[in-house]
Amino acid sequence: MCGIIGIASNKPVSINIINSLKKLEYRGYDSAGIATLTDNTINEKKCSGRVEELEKILFKTPSNGNIGIGHVRWATHGVPNITNAHPHSSEQVSVVHNGIIENSDEIKKELKAKGIKFKSQTDTEVVTLLITEALKENKPLESVFKTLKKLKGSFALGIIFKNFSNIIIGARRGSPLAVGYSKEENYIGSDSYALKSMTNKISYLEDGELCLLTKDEVSFYDERLKKINKKILTLSENGSSADKGEYKHFMVKEIFEQPDTVKECIEEYVDSSKKNINILNFPIDPQKINKIILIGCGTAYNSCLTAKYWFEELTSIDVEIDIASEFRYRNLKFNAKNLYIFVSQSGETADTAAALDICKKNNIKTCSVVNVIESTIARNSDWVLPIHAGIEIGVASTKAFLGQLTVLYILCLKLAFVRKDIDEKTYVKHVTNLKKLPDAIKKCIKSENNVQLMAKEFISAKGSMFLGRGPSFPIALEGALKLKELSYLHAEGYPAGEMKHGPLALIEEGLPVIVLAPMDKYFEKTISNMQEVIARGGKILFITDNKKESLNENIRFGLRVPHIDNLLSPILLTLPLQMLAYHVALLKNCDVDKPRNLAKSVTVE
Ligand code: M6R
Repeated sequence: MCGIIGIASNKPVSINIINSLKKLEYRGYDSAGIATLTDNTINEKKCSGRVEELEKILFKTPSNGNIGIGHVRWATHGVPNITNAHPHSSEQVSVVHNGIIENSDEIKKELKAKGIKFKSQTDTEVVTLLITEALKENKPLESVFKTLKKLKGSFALGIIFKNFSNIIIGARRGSPLAVGYSKEENYIGSDSYALKSMTNKISYLEDGELCLLTKDEVSFYDERLKKINKKILTLSENGSSADKGEYKHFMVKEIFEQPDTVKECIEEYVDSSKKNINILNFPIDPQKINKIILIGCGTAYNSCLTAKYWFEELTSIDVEIDIASEFRYRNLKFNAKNLYIFVSQSGETADTAAALDICKKNNIKTCSVVNVIESTIARNSDWVLPIHAGIEIGVASTKAFLGQLTVLYILCLKLAFVRKDIDEKTYVKHVTNLKKLPDAIKKCIKSENNVQLMAKEFISAKGSMFLGRGPSFPIALEGALKLKELSYLHAEGYPAGEMKHGPLALIEEGLPVIVLAPMDKYFEKTISNMQEVIARGGKILFITDNKKESLNENIRFGLRVPHIDNLLSPILLTLPLQMLAYHVALLKNCDVDKPRNLAKSVTVE
């Protein structure tokens, strides 16, 4: 996955390309590059590492040109260095690419046999060289079209041409590509967010489509190169801001925003006077839902797993969950009476989008729970439930996780009520409790100083374990995921009852073990499992909402979160774990907002 941008303008474009690349860095930050056209020459500048480095290069040696493309990379083929950084240019063309060309080795062999030389180890360079070959006999659009026919895999491409200095061609298969419009300036970009500071008028390319931009107009073509028209959408305004404000990192800002984002989310769905949930137009008659299948990746998968416990507790519906990269390759028996729910912050995760496509191909109605409502997943779903978290920039997902949980919980309550699985009194009680959530989240955040102390226990640890039972188990997984991705410290999330079946062997003197023990039906069992860890020397960091439980000498560190309702405890237990991961990462001097090897939006398989 990577981020691409292209601008055709009546004025120099390099500064705007750099600004957009900064916004696209969430898609990759291994290397960055830009190519502009000046006096019919392709002027390429690249760096390994962040866009900041590229900006410094441009500061010393500016790139002029009213037309240009830019790229941020998350390496797939070839190590992250300057040679493999995009754009990949020949004498004639320069190309930026997001996606993977699956048959690049085959094409490379054919081109090498013709004596054509490669500079990089990337799959993208085959696109550059195929277009260069095709240009010997064709115009730009036909050359790109002929090249695309030879490619297998996924791509969003931005291409500029030495001898056609007023055009950019964009093409899409699998990877997203937005087109933006402004006065005497038009754009392509991996997402609307990258274009938002320049325009709020957007169209999206569908699979197989191409576009050709000049500064004055944009033409669109279908997969047979027939000219088509596109709808122009106006982007929604979004309250939350894309800068860090008073905070040191986006992640901590996003953690602290959670009382507000959850409040907004609840207000979007819950009618405050009637204590009713405004979720209407179910894609399937709620009474006839046979099964709910929740699908996501990473943190989104953890929210699916948490929701499974809620749906099972409150409704009479059977629930399955799946990791999108597994779902898409399973031999599934689709059933039109099943409700398939796709959960994704970005709405661009390739595996989740592909899993949704499979449902569509099987004539299944789909529902998505997304943050970015202009995203591919949202646009391709029959029914969208936005989480209203506002833009999330930190690679480690925090407020989107709470948003996903909140929406899934709201959906669960509504379904339980309309199906008469719960009576009105219970429904109103749960809705009333839900409204207490933002204040309780605020209280959790106030324990940051204690969490900071807890974080010190991890500095010299070799690894760590996170344990929970029932709906606290997915939160243990989420806590471990956060710690791994931010501080590069090995962390395992486990159902506490499963420890004795193997993982207990990992426990040794001083190993930090986080135990999540809310006052639910699993409490006593969790305490017993904790004793088994204590007996083997584990260093217990205990998180509970149980006011009565006194912390004894075997517990190295204890933390209390507020209690509203057992069903809501997974949400509140998440807060200390997010802050813990943040503070351990700080203590270990890790790059909090951009952890190594990762990207915010995973648009490759
Ligand atoms: O945008 P999505 O919610 O589809 O992303 C899914 C995962 O890639 C994402 O949650 C990832 O696991 C996060 N980095 C976790 O913090």
